[in-house]
Amino acid sequence: MLMRRILVTSALPYANGQIHIGHLVEYIQTDIWVRFQRMRGHEIHYVGADDTHGTPIMLRAEKEGLTPQELIARVWQEHKRDFDDFLVSFDNYYSTDSAENRELSQAIYLKLRDAGLIEKRAIEQAYDPVKEMFLPDRFIKGECPKCGAKDQYGDSCEKCGATYSPTDLKNPFSVVSGATPIKKVSDHYFFKLSDPRCENFLREWTQVKTPLQAEARNKMKEWVGEPGDSKLGDWDISRDAPYFGFEIPDAPGKYFYVWLDAPIGYYASFKNLCDKKGLDFDEWTRADSETEMYHFIGKDILYFHTLFWPATLEFSGYRTPSNVFAHGFLTVDGEKMSKSRGTFITAHSVITEGLNPEWFRYYFAAKLNASMEDIDLNLQDFTARVNSDLVGKYINIASRSAGFLVKRFNGLVDETALQDELLVHLRHANTEIANYYEDREFAKALRRIMELADQVNAYVDANKPWEIAKQEGQDAQLQKVCTITLEAFRILSLYLKPVIPRVATGVEEFLNIAPMQWADVDQTLSTTRAIRAYSHLMQRVDPKLIDALLAANQA
Ligand code: MSP
Ligand code: ZN
Repeated sequence: MLMRRILVTSALPYANGQIHIGHLVEYIQTDIWVRFQRMRGHEIHYVGADDTHGTPIMLRAEKEGLTPQELIARVWQEHKRDFDDFLVSFDNYYSTDSAENRELSQAIYLKLRDAGLIEKRAIEQAYDPVKEMFLPDRFIKGECPKCGAKDQYGDSCEKCGATYSPTDLKNPFSVVSGATPIKKVSDHYFFKLSDPRCENFLREWTQVKTPLQAEARNKMKEWVGEPGDSKLGDWDISRDAPYFGFEIPDAPGKYFYVWLDAPIGYYASFKNLCDKKGLDFDEWTRADSETEMYHFIGKDILYFHTLFWPATLEFSGYRTPSNVFAHGFLTVDGEKMSKSRGTFITAHSVITEGLNPEWFRYYFAAKLNASMEDIDLNLQDFTARVNSDLVGKYINIASRSAGFLVKRFNGLVDETALQDELLVHLRHANTEIANYYEDREFAKALRRIMELADQVNAYVDANKPWEIAKQEGQDAQLQKVCTITLEAFRILSLYLKPVIPRVATGVEEFLNIAPMQWADVDQTLSTTRAIRAYSHLMQRVDPKLIDALLAANQA
C-alpha cells in the first residue's frame, strides 16, 4: 500500500471555558479517523492547541483576578486532562500564545503586506469611554428596537427574534462598565480579500481544486460568486489595545485579531512538534508539499477555514489544506445543550460521575457521517445502544467462549478452525469497513461491524458451547467452536479499535497479541501463545448514571 503522509487538526478550543460534549463530537471524530490512519501504517501527525487570544479571555482573566497567561495556563491543564480522559490522541497539544505562533503570525503578515494585500483604513466603532476600550458586538447590550425588551445583545432579540445591528439598540450600554458607548475612529488593518488575485484564487480553491463537502461548496459559491459579482469583503485583522494577543510588527498599539493567529496556531503546534521529533516543517508546509493536510471543524467556523485561512496561506507562500471536514452541531434529546436542563454536559463531569468515555466515543461514532447535519445525543437511545450493541452484541462474545479455552485447552486455539468460512467472511469485510472509516462514514462502519457481530452470535447460539462442554467426547468440537468465536472476536475488536481504543488494548492483553494493525486482519490467533483469563472489558450503562450526570450539570 502507498504510504501517505498526513497532517491533521481539530479546531482549537477557546481557553476561557471547559470542554463539553459538543466539543467532544469533533475531537472524537478526528481521533477515530487519525487512529484508523495510524492502524493503516500511514505517517500521520495530529496537532491541536488552545486558542488563547482575544477580548473575552482578557476580560475573563481580569474578572478572576488573574493575568491572561495565568488563566490560559490553568485552562490548558484542564483541556489536556479532558482530552486524555476521552482518549483523544494528539501528537502535540500546544497554545496559540507561543513563540512559534508569534513568529509565524508576524512573518505571514509581512508576506501579505509585501504582496500588497494589506490596507490601512480608519473606521468608526463603539467605544467604552470608562473602560477605555473598543467594544466587540457581544459586549454591547440594550433595548430591542422592535419590542423594547431590555438587556438584549447587539445582533438579535431573544424575546421577539428581531435581528438588527448594535447601532440600532435603544439605550445601549457596555457590558464591561455599564457606560454608554460612544463612537470613536481608529486605524484598522485589512486583508484585501476583494483583490482580484484573492477572489480568483478562492473561486478556484473552493469550487474546483478542493473536494469540499457539497454543502460547504455551495455556501462558498454564494460568497465567491461569479467574476465581478463577489460578496467577499476585506477582512479586518487588527484590534486596538487593550487586547490580549500579538502586536502587529509595524503598528504599535495594534494587535492581530484572534482569528488571524488562531489557524496559524495549527502550524505553530506542528512546528513545535517538528522541533521535538526532528521532522522537516518546511517539507510539510511549503507551497509544493506532497503531504496531505486536513482540518476537522464545526460548521460554524467554515468561512474562517475555507476562505480566510486558505487565502492567508496561499499569499504568504505556504501550502493550502487538502480538505476541510465540517461536522454538524450536537443537540441533546433534540434540543440545544442547556445549563438549566443539565444537558450542557462537561467532559470532566462524565469522568467524575463515573461514566465510561468509550460509551460516548461509540455513541458519537454510531451517529457520525461525512455530512454537516446536526447529530443528536438521545439519552435513552444512548443507554439502549451501548447496552444492546456494544456490550450485548460485541463484548459478550468474548465471555461466551474464553473460559472454556482457558480451562480445558490451556488457552490454546485449534489451528484447523482458523480458516472457517465464518472467519473468512468476517475478514473479507475489511475493505468495505476501511472505506467507511476513510470516508468518515462512521455510522456505516459500525452498522456493518454490528451486522457481523450478529452473525457471530448466531453461530454461538447454533453451536451452544456451554452444552457441548457438558458432553463426553466433544472436546475437539468444543475447542473448534471456541476458537472460531474468539478469532471472530479478535477481528471485530480490530475493526472497532479506532473507536474504542482502551477496550482494544484490553483485548490485546487478554488475547496475548501485539497491538493490532489493520493488516493483521489477515493474521490469526497464535496456536502456540496461550490466551489469558478473561476479565470483563466493559460495563453496561446503568440509567442511574445518566440521572446523576444531568444533576451534576444542572445550573
Ligand atoms: N477557537 C475557535 C476555533 C479556532 S480554530 C483555528 C472555536 N472554538 S470553540 O471552542 O468555540 O469550538 C471548538 C470546536 O468545537 C469548533 O469546531 C466548534 O464547531 C466545535 N463545537 C462547539 N460546540 C459544538 C457543539 N455543540 N456541537 C458540535 N461541535 C461543537 O470555535
Ligand atoms: Zn425584541
